[in-house]
Amino acid sequence: MPYKVGVLIGSLSSTSINRKLAMALQKLAPEDLVLEEIPIRDLPLYSQDYDQTFPPVAREFKAALEASDAVIFVTPEFNRSLPGALKNAIDWGSRPWGTNSFAKKPSAVTGTSPGNISTAVAQQHLRSILSFVNSPELSSPEAYIHFTPGLIDDDGNVSNQGTADFLRSWLDAFAVFVSRVTTAVNDGQA
Ligand code: FNR
Repeated sequence: MPYKVGVLIGSLSSTSINRKLAMALQKLAPEDLVLEEIPIRDLPLYSQDYDQTFPPVAREFKAALEASDAVIFVTPEFNRSLPGALKNAIDWGSRPWGTNSFAKKPSAVTGTSPGNISTAVAQQHLRSILSFVNSPELSSPEAYIHFTPGLIDDDGNVSNQGTADFLRSWLDAFAVFVSRVTTAVNDGQA
């Protein structure tokens, strides 16, 4: 059985280059990973007031996380950090207290930007949050994708062979990592 991977895209933009990257990952994934987006767009801003009764959209979000064996984050960088929408989604997923949907769930982080450091700072901030919510993260290889015009089209086709090969190898490394973490968790070793 392939591993089911939930994909959280940090951008709400209708022309998002990170969505294009997520589509490319979906296409390039090895047979043992099946990637599917978990939408975050309609989540309201989280408040503890919701903890007694989560709204349906948040219940669906948490159910989709729970049904995933692993999570891939594909995020833009906003003002040298992750977008608020993505942080908000993580806050929903981590709550109510005692039902943290990220705990022990393997994750990987990537993102693309036209900027020269290609979401590196946003990814570091995201890694810090993922550590706190106890999600084992793929630490290496890192995946900072510098977006140039036409690099990935609207259907997720990557025009640069080197980038496509790199993304494929990154996904292969994640598949190995997910298998290792899942086995350890199931054996009570993690
Ligand atoms: C940006 N952008 C940006 N880029 C970057 O490399 N580092 C940054 O800190 C920022 N900061 C930033 C803040 C805000 C509010 C916006 C709207 C944009 C540019 C950003 O990389 C570019 O708009 C990407 O296209 C955003 O990704 P999506 O939404 O197209 O996936």
